[in-house]
Amino acid sequence: MYRTNTCGELRLSDAGREVTIAGWVQRTRKMGGMTFVDVRDRYGITQVVFDQDAPELCEAANRLGREFVVQVTGRVAERASKNPKNPTGDIEIIARELNILNSSEVPPFTIEDKTDGGDDLRMKYRYLDLRRPAVRKNLELRHRMAFEIRRYLDAKGFLEVETPVLIKSTPEGARDFVVPSRMNPGQFYALPQSPQTFKQLLMVSGFDRYFQIVKCFRDEDLRADRQPEFTQIDCEMSFVDQEDVLQMFEGLVKHIFKYVKDIDFTEPFPRMTWADAMKYYGSDKPDTRFGMRFVELKDLTEGAGFSVMDEAPYVGAIVAPGCAGYTRKDLDKLTDFVKRPQVGAKGMMWVKYEADGSVKSSVGKFYSDDTLRTWLERGEAKPGDLMLILAGQTMKTRKQLNELRLEMGSRLGLRNPDDFSCLWVVDFPLFEWDEETQRYYAMHHPFTAPNPEDIGMLDSDTGAVRATAYDMVVNGNELGGGSIRIHDSKLQDKMFRLLGLSEEDAQYKFGFLMNAFKYGAPPHGGLAFGFDRFVSILAGLDSIRDTIAFPKNNSGRDMMIDAPAVIDDTQLEELQIKVDLRED
Ligand code: AMO
Repeated sequence: MYRTNTCGELRLSDAGREVTIAGWVQRTRKMGGMTFVDVRDRYGITQVVFDQDAPELCEAANRLGREFVVQVTGRVAERASKNPKNPTGDIEIIARELNILNSSEVPPFTIEDKTDGGDDLRMKYRYLDLRRPAVRKNLELRHRMAFEIRRYLDAKGFLEVETPVLIKSTPEGARDFVVPSRMNPGQFYALPQSPQTFKQLLMVSGFDRYFQIVKCFRDEDLRADRQPEFTQIDCEMSFVDQEDVLQMFEGLVKHIFKYVKDIDFTEPFPRMTWADAMKYYGSDKPDTRFGMRFVELKDLTEGAGFSVMDEAPYVGAIVAPGCAGYTRKDLDKLTDFVKRPQVGAKGMMWVKYEADGSVKSSVGKFYSDDTLRTWLERGEAKPGDLMLILAGQTMKTRKQLNELRLEMGSRLGLRNPDDFSCLWVVDFPLFEWDEETQRYYAMHHPFTAPNPEDIGMLDSDTGAVRATAYDMVVNGNELGGGSIRIHDSKLQDKMFRLLGLSEEDAQYKFGFLMNAFKYGAPPHGGLAFGFDRFVSILAGLDSIRDTIAFPKNNSGRDMMIDAPAVIDDTQLEELQIKVDLRED
């Protein structure tokens, strides 16, 4: 037996017992004639004492390096100076026997929560990084969540069904990763961006309730909340309308919060239409942990001869509570913030509602105090508040104001990662117009059903048709999204046509689905949550990377195994592929 106990479980009640533990050397300290060694495993850290009465043992302990793998046998004793921060801090083991199971080179960074290793180094040696409790905790949380997800969905009658990974391209907005086929030279599989079409086919097969915790692959530009391979909690149900789906998965989110975080959401999650989300927050994923909703001022700014306002189709503002005291420097900093290329505003205007009730503004020479007061009144500003104003093209300016709102939320400490605000965004548009290609794209995906009330507008007012699509938003993150699907092959056909897909194209890409729909497809719908995002939100992380055991970096590389990599000529020959790289 390698061990009788883990490094995290011994307590004062074990004092006097003879035990054996095994683990990694966290650190060694010499004090007087004694040597203290902290031994770590997944469960915790236990202090081991090597006494000067056993000089050989002590000497061996002194030669231990960081991350050596050791086995120690000894007697549990009460510690003279206890460490209340460590659950095993009341005891130590007086070593009788030390067995070095393996040595270790000096690790390239310290295996501690606050490590001295930079990102690249940690990724290269991810197996060492994963020894750090802070990273391990995220994976423990991930496991717990996956377990609770399965428990909830199983109890509701969902079946977990695996779907293939080598498939044909499913257009969901991103590029596909492709895999060449040796047996079918010149042909490629695509890795699924999601199992969307398969789960719909399972509904045609009568599976009724499906889920899968499943890897998805998207070749898209990476951000903190995106990885090229990520995991979805993918779900689909038959004989449901939107309300059934929202209820079922609101239940899942509440279950996770309750059983994983001990947080009870007793009220229904609020719902907001996409149109309102854009109008009041300039985003389809508003962070509703705080207010500062947009106030529209266009009508109140007209007629003063101030071209910035007059020429802008949209004037919007937020009211930052208690910020009237901002100095010129503070305001310049905010102006610089909105002018950054990532935000893209030309400038920012402001009105201070001073604590004494007076009004000051960067546009004071164009507008009377009385006019400025009408703005403040509309924004329900109180003395001491600061109104920040942007003007320009409607959608662009709303997006800029969204950035400014989030920035102010952060500055004012209103975005606490331990507060959770969940929201359904509903009534998304079915289509999105793309100026560049001059055509419509599906805002969600081409299988999303139009809102039944808007079906008559499909040809006449295409852009205004609403979808039966919904997103779950938590703290300003899109946690998941889905829709009620089209289950009628004729309507699906029409949808493809509106998206500019010819009959042949549609048949080539989705013939299998359209054929299936001819054999009695039930009404169905579902959604998918981003599992990595779900874990990162619950763990309070800024990036999903540390919720994944072996993630990719921002260039899509696995730094540890050094992938992607070139393959050798024989492999290429077998695939009948020639590589012809562009010069640039
Ligand atoms: P969608 O494309 O909205 O829907 O994806 C669902 C959820 O998956 C997460 N997600 C990602 N997470 C990490 N890295 C990425 N690159 C990434 N891309 C998406 C997000 C997102 O909300 N088939 C549909 C679902 C459906 O209609 O049922 C789909 O994939 O959290």
